[in-house]
Amino acid sequence: MYPHTLTLSLLALCAITSHAEPGPLVSSAGQGAVIPGWNIQSATLIEDDMSKLSQPDANITSWHRVGPRDTVMGGLLHNGVHDDKTLFYSENMEQLAGRAIFQAPWIYREEFMMKPSEGQYFTLKTHGITSKADIYLNGVQIASSEQQQGSYGGHKYDLTGIIKPGSNCLLIKAYPTNYLRDFAMGFVDWNPYPPDNGTGVWRNVEIFQTGPVSMLTLRVITDFTDPTVNDNVNVTLKTELVNHTPRTVHVEVNGTITGPIQADSSVIAGMFELNPSETRTVSINASIRNPQIWWPAGWGEQPMYNVHASAMSRETQEGQPILSDSSIQDFGIRHVSSHLNEHNDTAFVVNGYPFQVLGAGYSPDMFMRFDEKRTINIFRYVLDLGLNTIRLEGKQEHPELYKLADYMGVMILTGWECCDKWEAWEYNHDADGVKWGDQDYEIARAAMLHEAEMMEPHPSLLGFLVGSDYWPNDRATDVFLDALKEMDWQSPVIASASKRGYPEALGPSGMKMSGPYDWVPPNYWYGDDEGAAFGFGSELGAGVGTPELSSLKKFMADEDLRILWQEPDVGLYHMSNNGSSFYTRSIYNQGLFSRYGNSDSLEDYVEKCQMADYETTRAQFEAYSARQNASRPATGAIYWMLNSAWPNLHWQLFDYYLNTMGSYFGTKIGTRMEHVAYDYESQSVWLINHSLQNEGEREISVDLIQRNGKKISSAKVKTMTTPHSSKEVYNVTGIEKIQDVGFLRLILRDVKEKKDLSRNVYWLSPIPDVLDWSESNWYYTPVAEYANYTGLDDLPQVNVKGKLKIPWDNTPVNGWYLFEVELENKSKQPAFFIHLNIIHNHDHSQVMPAYWSDNYVTLWPKEKLTLTVAYEGDIMHDIHIQVSGRNIESQVLKNLEIEALWDLGN
Ligand SMILES: *[C@@H]1O[C@H](CO)[C@@H](O)[C@H](O)[C@H]1NC(C)=O
Ligand SMILES: *[C@@H]1O[C@H](CO)[C@@H](O)[C@H](O)[C@H]1NC(C)=O
Ligand SMILES: *[C@@H]1O[C@H](CO)[C@@H](O)[C@H](O)[C@H]1NC(C)=O
Ligand SMILES: *[C@@H]1O[C@H](CO)[C@@H](O)[C@H](O)[C@H]1NC(C)=O
Ligand SMILES: *[C@@H]1O[C@H](CO)[C@@H](O)[C@H](O)[C@H]1NC(C)=O
Ligand SMILES: *[C@@H]1O[C@H](CO)[C@@H](O)[C@H](O)[C@H]1NC(C)=O
Ligand SMILES: *[C@@H]1O[C@H](CO)[C@@H](O)[C@H](O)[C@H]1NC(C)=O
Ligand SMILES: *[C@@H]1O[C@H](CO)[C@@H](O)[C@H](O)[C@H]1NC(C)=O
Repeated sequence: MYPHTLTLSLLALCAITSHAEPGPLVSSAGQGAVIPGWNIQSATLIEDDMSKLSQPDANITSWHRVGPRDTVMGGLLHNGVHDDKTLFYSENMEQLAGRAIFQAPWIYREEFMMKPSEGQYFTLKTHGITSKADIYLNGVQIASSEQQQGSYGGHKYDLTGIIKPGSNCLLIKAYPTNYLRDFAMGFVDWNPYPPDNGTGVWRNVEIFQTGPVSMLTLRVITDFTDPTVNDNVNVTLKTELVNHTPRTVHVEVNGTITGPIQADSSVIAGMFELNPSETRTVSINASIRNPQIWWPAGWGEQPMYNVHASAMSRETQEGQPILSDSSIQDFGIRHVSSHLNEHNDTAFVVNGYPFQVLGAGYSPDMFMRFDEKRTINIFRYVLDLGLNTIRLEGKQEHPELYKLADYMGVMILTGWECCDKWEAWEYNHDADGVKWGDQDYEIARAAMLHEAEMMEPHPSLLGFLVGSDYWPNDRATDVFLDALKEMDWQSPVIASASKRGYPEALGPSGMKMSGPYDWVPPNYWYGDDEGAAFGFGSELGAGVGTPELSSLKKFMADEDLRILWQEPDVGLYHMSNNGSSFYTRSIYNQGLFSRYGNSDSLEDYVEKCQMADYETTRAQFEAYSARQNASRPATGAIYWMLNSAWPNLHWQLFDYYLNTMGSYFGTKIGTRMEHVAYDYESQSVWLINHSLQNEGEREISVDLIQRNGKKISSAKVKTMTTPHSSKEVYNVTGIEKIQDVGFLRLILRDVKEKKDLSRNVYWLSPIPDVLDWSESNWYYTPVAEYANYTGLDDLPQVNVKGKLKIPWDNTPVNGWYLFEVELENKSKQPAFFIHLNIIHNHDHSQVMPAYWSDNYVTLWPKEKLTLTVAYEGDIMHDIHIQVSGRNIESQVLKNLEIEALWDLGN
């Protein structure tokens, strides 16, 4: 009932500490620290002597203080030079774009204390700097932009001998980014580009202190395949030991594997002799009895294991061991594989069970600002939406994202991004990027090694796509595969997200990228062409995701809002970027106006958008779910997209402010674990079961009525359900008898438990949408004839009574409040598309995020329905619920008793 709760203390990362004290950043072997923040300035505004500037005590009074991982724009926002409310409003960002200051390098500089001692070694770790960088410490250049290249170029640099006691100064000169030339993080047609193209120190930079031997990241390999055959799991831990000395050293690696239950811990140990200056890959075996298996959220728990190891060094066989380095790693025990089925479509298997991917494409913030709390909220929405996977297209974010996904059970399909520099191979005539030269393969190798090392132990990992729209050439494929192998990668590796071609070494991708990206009607998904429900659709959707009015007003000026509903073919700055196929809402609006009629107000337009968006996301997920075990199975669908990099008008399931909308609840219904759905093409009813184990007797009630509430047909269907399968169970009768518009209600009931599992209402036109499949292009399929929903404009007005129910003992559970709202339709006609909002009483702002059990609901004549909403925080007294709908009077539900009590108490 409550959204996923997390104990944030679980998320404290590794041995790395963030440091505020004026003492040394690190002071003993095995310690690491993040550079706690930076002062930044444009190279155009300061003298060009990096050796001098990288000495302590330079004059930096004009510089801007930013966080440990801020792009230039991200830093200027954190620092208050810009504010995103203003920047995101209307076309304000245009004023900044292309300014000369972003076409020159930016300098990041930080001073910190150190206390080096004899026999201690220091390493600087970068995890990617956009686009490339020169690095200086205390006046000495330790890396050049030839080495430190690319957003994912993680490197280690030896600082021993340059680090000095007392004040030290690290300086990074980050070069400007051009997406066509550099391995950066481009947005292609997602949104306008950030003015700085993401330039800067966007990931942490760390300093590590060790004794004579360093131990690198622990990799965790298990032999687990499926829960029915393993009561013992063998674990191999691998890492590199680096001997910094010109002598032979002996190293003992000791540690503990701790399970989710304390008693499960087991001990690891290994002894190694390293030659002078040797770097050696070592492995240690361990075994875990009665392993607790990690499952994707809908299928089970997410038990996590932890391994903590330390490396003790001895100069001689008999010498005293001293702590040299230590390492911590979380991991989960699960098995993921993928294969091409007999239709050459990719299918995933998790822990031995077929895993139909229902997911959406994730976007980072436009300025790469990463906020852990925001990410938790996004992942809660993912789970509340019933999705099991997110796809990251070359936006790999930070270790915290994978850790959250591990703890919450969200699968991650990740990989490199399309277009620009990343896919500038000789045969790709779509990408404008500068074609790869010899040095680019080195940059790609470093990026693959680094990302593989970061991701390898995470159970949330579903696979890595080494290409997106195009497949890598053979040389790049070898580079990627060698790097993955070096990092003991166990998860699936897939050539690309499309069927255009493939490298021999990987074979076909089995994923289609055939659109749509723009509006198509709901019956599209039940077709058998293009993006319809068969095979694996790596990025597809009807291009919907219109925010609610309260959000639109935050980023659109009055004139933008006028254009939105009155000029259907005019480009909008908050659609995809100018020049893309998605700069206007022409296709969407044509469908909307043809089916739902013209709008006489902005409010009416936005409400109709919610109906259209709801209809089409529901149909997409229902069709893919219905066909999970069809003769050509629908193995997966990634809705394009989950969320947006900034306040956006489309391609999202919730908006930038974390408000939900029509596309959200269409998806939430379409993905239900056990569900009953209407097939717009065959007019039949599907019984859907995504669960791992649910089975037994089910009853489906089917009711079809006219817009005035008059019954057309009804039936009760008895059937049996089985895990992860769907079947057609009934043909709806009387669709042709609908006058203007009718309503179909499906209710799925667990007979034994006497419990409704799913309730689902459709509005239907007697005239079907007719697609012109032969005219399809890469982003949509045109419609020859439109369905007619104009009858929804003048439904008879009905009387719906809302009641707010708060249990008197409503103390928050893990910080969550829960409300119930009972809606009762007192009339003999249906109440259409009732939308509930939870708002603060004092300023009428919306409570976000909020988790509604259902929304935009349609009530049958005389029907009573109870909805719940959960939200976080101690604001029970300050809450009102707004209720509005197409044919009901808007009302505000208050809990007067609670308010009175609160007033007394104050
Ligand atoms: C530091 O630089 C600022 C200008 O950026 C200047 O006003 C100030 O006098 C300088 N301080 C010193 C001590 O040189
Ligand atoms: C950002 O990259 C684009 C190419 O994708 C380039 O045209 C533009 O000039 C770059 N912007 C800056 C500030 O360098
Ligand atoms: C796991 O390790 C045990 C003991 O080391 C060994 O007997 C067993 O064969 C191993 N299992 C597999 C699948 O390798
Ligand atoms: C550490 O590992 C070594 C090598 O296997 C072993 O001899 C030693 O007893 C272990 N030490 C501890 C404290 O477990
Ligand atoms: C560790 O296990 C692997 C795989 O089971 C095996 O090949 C290897 O020989 C083992 N290594 C040690 C040191 O026992
Ligand atoms: C699958 O691909 C193989 C190899 O490319 C081909 O021979 C086969 O005909 C394909 N099967 C289908 C059903 O398309
Ligand atoms: C629905 O009708 C179709 C076409 O007449 C038929 O093939 C199918 O078996 C029917 N389905 C059910 C569940 O009755
Ligand atoms: C759509 O239905 C309305 C009645 O609800 C009717 O007046 C109108 O003519 C229809 N439009 C078309 C294009 O058939």
